[in-house]
Amino acid sequence: MSVLRREFGTMPDGSPVYEYEMENRRGMRVTVLTLGATLRSIIVKDRDGKARDLLLGFDTVEDYLTRSDYQGAVVGPVANRIAGAELPLGSKTYELVKNEKDKLCLHSNGEYNAALWRALIPDADRLELTYVHPDGANGFPGEIKNTVTYTLTDNNELKIGYYAVSDRDTYLNLTNHAYFNLNGFDSGDVLDHVVRIDADAITEVDPDSIPTGRLYPVEGTPFDFRTEKPIGRDVNAEDPQLLIGGGYDHNYCLRENEAGVCREIAAVRSPESGINMHVYTDLPGVQFYIGNFLDGRTGKADKPMVKRAGFCLETQFYPDTPHRPEFPSCLFKKGEPFVSETVYAFATDAPDAD
Ligand code: BGC
Repeated sequence: MSVLRREFGTMPDGSPVYEYEMENRRGMRVTVLTLGATLRSIIVKDRDGKARDLLLGFDTVEDYLTRSDYQGAVVGPVANRIAGAELPLGSKTYELVKNEKDKLCLHSNGEYNAALWRALIPDADRLELTYVHPDGANGFPGEIKNTVTYTLTDNNELKIGYYAVSDRDTYLNLTNHAYFNLNGFDSGDVLDHVVRIDADAITEVDPDSIPTGRLYPVEGTPFDFRTEKPIGRDVNAEDPQLLIGGGYDHNYCLRENEAGVCREIAAVRSPESGINMHVYTDLPGVQFYIGNFLDGRTGKADKPMVKRAGFCLETQFYPDTPHRPEFPSCLFKKGEPFVSETVYAFATDAPDAD
């Protein structure tokens, strides 16, 4: 196992952005930027031993700052949408920055992904990044100390550890917004990828993609991934929920877990490359998003991104939880840490895979 560092570019104010590379004994490589604690590449061998980079992304700091759609980045302090850009907390309502449709707050206005994180290598197989959210930034209360840890194991698992603690009561819901393509970042769309998600319902959304509070059972709908199926099989079905997102862009309500236990919640495989990925989390939800709005961008190696060039499985508390007391709560008391782990584990269907 080794961790290397190189300069990736500079921020508009001239501060350097570094890219760290971790490599395990099987030759799997993961690179991470200090900008946004962004996962920039995950390089895994396919069933024929050919290395493929499974992450969509960019080659410059400027692209990450201006065109990224949160690609690979850590999102926080509260991922996904908050209705009315208002955060009710105790007797107060905090006004958040409206960055969508002039009325919603999406992904905390991109705060964590546009921030420069401080990196540390505590162990040969681990990279630790920290960022402090100033009290009130983008409207979110509390000075929040955040640590994100990336660990690459020799079993081809990438573990993401989240730790955040605030000096005031606040909402915390951190995730990573990686877009995966198990055939490689420049391999067209992901409609042939076969997906399983262990959820019996999604959170139904209104036309602004804000949860209505109702849970929408997946049974008999295009959202049913309880038994694996290709993403493309039902993606164009006439379903009112599917039309809202322009394709899958919904929070899946994961089956119950014992509090704090990280369990497998989803798996994706590509028949073409033979690569599969299993996903684990201790959180109650996962946003399954298939990059419905990616076309028109140019990504790594100057390759154009197509519509649905990547899929995301963003582990999370349900969207707009601050307005939904019936959802599992993501309100954290002063000094009470948000602690969570997501694991993305990779393998291939090659019979002699080591
Ligand atoms: C949201 C999408 C949004 C995307 C932005 C996802 O988490 O669910 O609606 O377009 O982030 O990249």
